[in-house]
Amino acid sequence: MNSRPEATSAKIIVALDVPTRAEALRLVEQLSPHISIFKIGLQLYTAEGPEMVRAVLATGARVFLDLKLHDIPNTVARAIESANELGVHMLTIHLSGGRAMIEAAVAARSESLALLGVTVLTSMDQSALRETGIAGAMSEQVLKLAQLGAAAGINGLVASPQEVRMLRDKLPAQITLVVPGIRPAWAEKADQKRVMTPRDTLVAGADYLVIGRPITAHSDPVEAVRRISEELQS
Ligand code: C5P
Repeated sequence: MNSRPEATSAKIIVALDVPTRAEALRLVEQLSPHISIFKIGLQLYTAEGPEMVRAVLATGARVFLDLKLHDIPNTVARAIESANELGVHMLTIHLSGGRAMIEAAVAARSESLALLGVTVLTSMDQSALRETGIAGAMSEQVLKLAQLGAAAGINGLVASPQEVRMLRDKLPAQITLVVPGIRPAWAEKADQKRVMTPRDTLVAGADYLVIGRPITAHSDPVEAVRRISEELQS
């Protein structure tokens, strides 16, 4: 595949869940003709720091910095100013930080930074939620936090495949839905339990698909992107 990126691959964000800068940059180099947004999460950021972000941006790609910020409003706002300076395009915050934290984050972000809210981690089930003091149903809590975020001015949400349709129906259309937990039918599920195929996830209302191992652990990552793009077009 050496043609220009198809419109469908513009919907794919590749998660650079690798431990070193060298491995991350190898993937960016291989995939950047086809993928324009790469996600840097806690593992890589903690190992390699803001220089890693600058190195990916220097290739011309965009960066989704997935740090899931959750702290007092002032601290979150200052961290967002640093992210503005770095030039990242998407950044995550935990909506459970509350209205004042979300509003401080929204006020601090630059025009070019999309703030994405995380509702309830998909690793939590109903009993884990109850242990944190929240008695209501999981879907209620997800919707409550999503609506709080939307009212406070966030640009989008990280949603699980199971939530995407409900959130698309209940939230304003301008809220961007970014969805991980995607597995093409041919890929290993690994530790993701509640997965959806790329095509079904887009049909349910996702704007972007976050895909890691089905691409990054594939023997030929470019071929994996090509197959997923084809599946999206069909
Ligand atoms: O390799 P895989 O496709 O499972 O990677 C999915 C990426 O999305 C990982 O970086 C993971 O941390 C992230 N993620 C997730 N589920 C969430 C939120 C983020 O899998 N609910």
